[in-house]
Amino acid sequence: MDLICIRRPDDFHLHLRRGSVMRAVLPFTEQAFARALIMPNTTPTEIRTAVDAAVYRGEMKEHCRRGFTPLMTIKLLDRTTPHEIIACKSAGVIAGKVYPQGVTTNSDNGPVDMHVLYPVFAEMERVGMVLCLHGEDPKAFCMDRESVFLAQLCEIARSFPKLKIVLEHVTTLQAVGVVKELPDTVAATITAHHLYLTLDDVIGAKLHPHNFCMPIAKRPEDRDALRRAVLSGNPKFFLGTDSAPHTRETKECAEGCAGVFTAPMVIPLLTSFFEEFEALEMFERFTSESGARFYGLPLNEEKIRLIRQPFHIPEVIEGIVPYLAGKTLNWRIE
Ligand code: DOR
Ligand code: ZN
Repeated sequence: MDLICIRRPDDFHLHLRRGSVMRAVLPFTEQAFARALIMPNTTPTEIRTAVDAAVYRGEMKEHCRRGFTPLMTIKLLDRTTPHEIIACKSAGVIAGKVYPQGVTTNSDNGPVDMHVLYPVFAEMERVGMVLCLHGEDPKAFCMDRESVFLAQLCEIARSFPKLKIVLEHVTTLQAVGVVKELPDTVAATITAHHLYLTLDDVIGAKLHPHNFCMPIAKRPEDRDALRRAVLSGNPKFFLGTDSAPHTRETKECAEGCAGVFTAPMVIPLLTSFFEEFEALEMFERFTSESGARFYGLPLNEEKIRLIRQPFHIPEVIEGIVPYLAGKTLNWRIE
């Protein structure tokens, strides 16, 4: 088989940034995806109100191709009000994202205690907005941050039984197990790079800053649990690339930023992944169906075609070193 045709994918976790970086990276996502859930942790100003989201959507719309739909989110802070949730719902914002304080890029003003946000969660449950969680407890040891957070996930799911919750970019065997056990209101995104990376690829021999992201890649058995979750076709697990561009200088330095830039090759890479594990029949479900179904969005009608042809990944793209820089993949988007 040298040609694969799938429903156009959706990316349920994407960092686009703003300004010149946004203009540089947006074409890669538009080439492969119909829609993307746009993360709100932007600088210098972040997205925390309905008005911010409308302005940010306008910035994207000015540059994106017709037919591409940015799905908007806001960042939930201690000061976010239930009233703001109502405004967001009317403005078409579909999700609120929680970054616990200090857990990752631009999260210094995140909540320390999730309970402060419970009135906001209650309003999101009422109006039908999805809660996206960066599921790490920043107080825990870095390899344990996700597993320690799982108790909080369970408490939120129990307290708000109708609230749809996405545990973002899961990286552990434990998280996969807990998400599977929780009711169908709880799902998880999985990135393409976490299907490949372990901590060895970050610090195992030499320091590889371009494989460094949050949550950090874990043990081989964790990566294998992510692979099994994806290959099983369980609809609770769907694609959120977490493609997170940082310039080369801000990654290759003393205090390098967390984030892996995968937008340019993520769909060709996933084609190889499903082919390698002889599960191509699960490809479309993971990239183009399960996420849309969870979010209650219509499935994309348009298709994309992958052809078996060498696809060389440049060393640098617009000042950003992409994932697998300099490598060649077997598939490309036609
Ligand atoms: O590695 C990451 N980079 N993880 C996140 O949660 C945020 C992201 C970013 O914004 O760069
Ligand atoms: Zn992210």
